[in-house]
Order: sequence, then structure tokens, then C-alpha cells
Amino acid sequence: KVIEGDYFHTPSAHTLDYGHALFALDEFGTIVKMIRQEESSFDELKREWFAEAEQTVVVPKGRFLFPGLIDLHVHAPQWPQAGIALDEPLEVWLDQCTFPLEAKYADVDFAKEVYTDLVTNLLSRGTTTVLYFATVHKESSILLGTLCGELGQRALVGKVVMDHPDTTPETYRDINAKQALADTEAFIKAVRELDYPQGIYPVITPRFVPSCSDEVLAGLGKLAEKYQVHVQSHCSESQWEHEHVYERFGKRDTQVLADFGLLTRKSIMAHGNFLTPEDGEIFHDHGASVAHCPISNAYFANSVLPVKRLQKQGVTVGLGTDISGGFSPSLYENIRQVVMSSRMLEEGVDANKPLAKRGGLADSRVSLVEAFYLATTASGQALDLNIGCFQEGFSFDAQVIDPNHAQNRLPHFAFQQPEEIFSRIVYLADQSNIRQVFVQGKLVHEKQGEK
Ligand code: GUN
Ligand code: FE
Repeated sequence: KVIEGDYFHTPSAHTLDYGHALFALDEFGTIVKMIRQEESSFDELKREWFAEAEQTVVVPKGRFLFPGLIDLHVHAPQWPQAGIALDEPLEVWLDQCTFPLEAKYADVDFAKEVYTDLVTNLLSRGTTTVLYFATVHKESSILLGTLCGELGQRALVGKVVMDHPDTTPETYRDINAKQALADTEAFIKAVRELDYPQGIYPVITPRFVPSCSDEVLAGLGKLAEKYQVHVQSHCSESQWEHEHVYERFGKRDTQVLADFGLLTRKSIMAHGNFLTPEDGEIFHDHGASVAHCPISNAYFANSVLPVKRLQKQGVTVGLGTDISGGFSPSLYENIRQVVMSSRMLEEGVDANKPLAKRGGLADSRVSLVEAFYLATTASGQALDLNIGCFQEGFSFDAQVIDPNHAQNRLPHFAFQQPEEIFSRIVYLADQSNIRQVFVQGKLVHEKQGEK
């Protein structure tokens, strides 16, 4: 398969790269050759490849290939309550809204209906890879993996573990630690059996330290070692969580996760707002990553992740929507929020105080290009997969963006430098501008009735 078009991507944190290129894919949808127009072999290879290819896709002038977006933190079962009940503090929201909703996924028919709708919706927003929390239920968690496989999305899925009787309701928790560990192991094996070209991966998923017994945390650490799979949880998200963990263990969230073997090169911890510089060191030493969820953090943590400080410590930071703690399923909206929140973090927010007294954190600003990098290349690195930018050996995951779509025609009167086109798209595009979405070289979404 050969694809030709104008492209934008961010191969490193500060680099916006763009141009016109040909992509040759192997039968698995991996980029085997990427030839830019400036290269002398371009015309000859184009003739050759187009004559030989089984399938060709030419992106029309005026439309652009963007890499598929990678969401590092989605609670799939919370999709029905996206945009609901966001004014409660985290612990109240969990007890009163979230746990009763998640309990409903004992019903696999309900799970199928919601999960199909969510995955389809995320694909239409250009999200090609997702790291999902499912629920405690093994069957519907496996079903989420299967549905992603069928719908063409690359997914990493976790059966949630939560067994602590003090912080979880009787109606929604694992029966006991032993059963939770057995179910997790069976879940890992079942998901490893799923066979889809884009990859569906099992993830060890303690909900967060407060909801898990010591026994279950230790057991999950052993399973992470045994199966070498990804691990996800919430870490230092809110003041409440953070203090709860300290009271129970006499040490910080990060240290507890590390001591139980849950902080590995394949660990992605959501939020991290309260991580100290010492915690950052521990993350770095273990090669673990952070999923920044900027919209959610504004509601439940009332705070901003110090992205730059963690990056300086060598910690990989990717991006997540945190549906439904974050109301928006769109990574575009979260990219915008990364930039906005970072500016408030840098200066502090009380304009009536002199700058020096606002409590801002110097050197915290994240640019739009850097924020786009979080949602693509950095998230790919966090997952330890070859995804996130256009590069030989990487999966061809892409969105075709049309800035001139009638439903959302972006301004086109001036400011037509490539950097300006990119910036305008990332700030202003919505679903109507995403014409097509490819995962692993396969078309998985196309705007209805339009080519
Ligand atoms: N901490 C534990 N569970 C959750 C959850 O579902 N959402 C968020 N944002 N934080 C959590
Ligand atoms: Fe979350």
C-alpha cells in the first residue's frame, strides 16, 4: 500500500516537521519507506511504487496527514456520564456517581452498547490508540478489547482491581484479593489470545492505592513481573488521595507503587499533580511515565501538572482525556488545555498580586507544538510502542485533516505559512475536519457520505 500527501508531525519535543512524502507500507501496515519530495529518488520511486502497489491513497492538496492521537487515560465505562457531576470532590464523585455506574458493566450487553459507541466516537476524533480502564468485571473488560480489535483501534485494556472494603462499596468491588488476582491473570491470558494486526494488549490496573489491599497490590506487582505487561493506575492525583496513602503507609504514593513492583518501564500513572521532585526521580529511575490529564485536573485536583519539571528530570509525559473526570473525549481539546494550564502555572493566577508573590512555577510554559508532541510521539514512547510520528518502522496511524470542510471552515485569508496552518488546525479543528482515520494502514473511519 502506498500513501502520498502533505504531512505534519512532531518527531521530537520542540520540532514541528512537515512536507510532502510517499509512504510505502508492508502488509501489516508498518511504514517500510518514507520518501520526502526533496529526495532525488522521489519521482522515480513514485512511478515505480504506484505501478506496483495493491492500493494507493493520495491525499488531495489542501488536506493534511497528521499522526493518529494517543490517549493514555480513558475510563471506558464512564462514557455515559461524560459532562455530568463534575462539581463534586473526587471521593464523593467516585462513591455517588462513578462506582454505581461502573457496577452496571456486569451486564455485557450494556457494556457492548456503550463501548461500541465510545470507540467509534474516539476514532472519529482522530484517536487511534487508547490506554483504557474498564471495570472490575472480567468478561466485559475482555469484550472492550475485542470491540477495539474489531473496530480497528489499537488498545491497551485493563480489568480494574479494587478490593479494599473501606474505600469501595460492597456492590462494586472484587470479591477478595485472591479472586482479583486470579481474574487479572485470566484476563491477561485471554487478551493475549486476541489477534488483531494493530495490537490489543492487557494492562495490570490497580484503580489507585486507596482502593486496593496490600495483598492485592503485592500480587499485582508479581503479575507485572511474571507477564511483563503494562501497568496503569492513578498516582498523586488529589490532595485527598495523597494524604490517604501517606496515613496508611507513612510514605508517598509513588514510593508505595514502586515498593509493590508497580512502577516499571511499562507503567503509566495518571495525573501526578502532587508529585514532588523526589517522586520524579523515582519515576525516572524506574522508567515509568505520567499521563497528563489537564481538563480533569482543573476539576478534581484544582491544579496543574508540572510537565516541564518532570521532563527535565527525564520523565516521559504523555496525554490523556480521563473520560469522564475530564468532560471531553477530544485530545485536541486537551492539547489546548495543556497550553492554557501551563501558562497559569508559570505565572500564578491572582493578577492583584505582584508577579513574585503569585506562587507561579518558573519555566512551566508548554508550547502548542510541545503539547501536540505529548499527545503523539511522547505518548507512544510512554507505551513503548512504535507509534506517534511518521517514521520507518513505525505503524502508519494517521488522520486526514481538511481545514476547509463546510461544517467548520477555518480562516484561510492569510497566515498560510506551514507553522500557521498547523497551529490553526490544532486550535480550531473539530470532528468535521477529520475526513479519514487510518490505524496500522487500514481505514477505520471516514466522514459519512464524503470522500
Ligand atoms: N481515582 C480513582 N478512580 C478514579 C477515576 O475513576 N477517575 C479519576 N479521575 N480519578 C480516580
Ligand atoms: Fe482517571
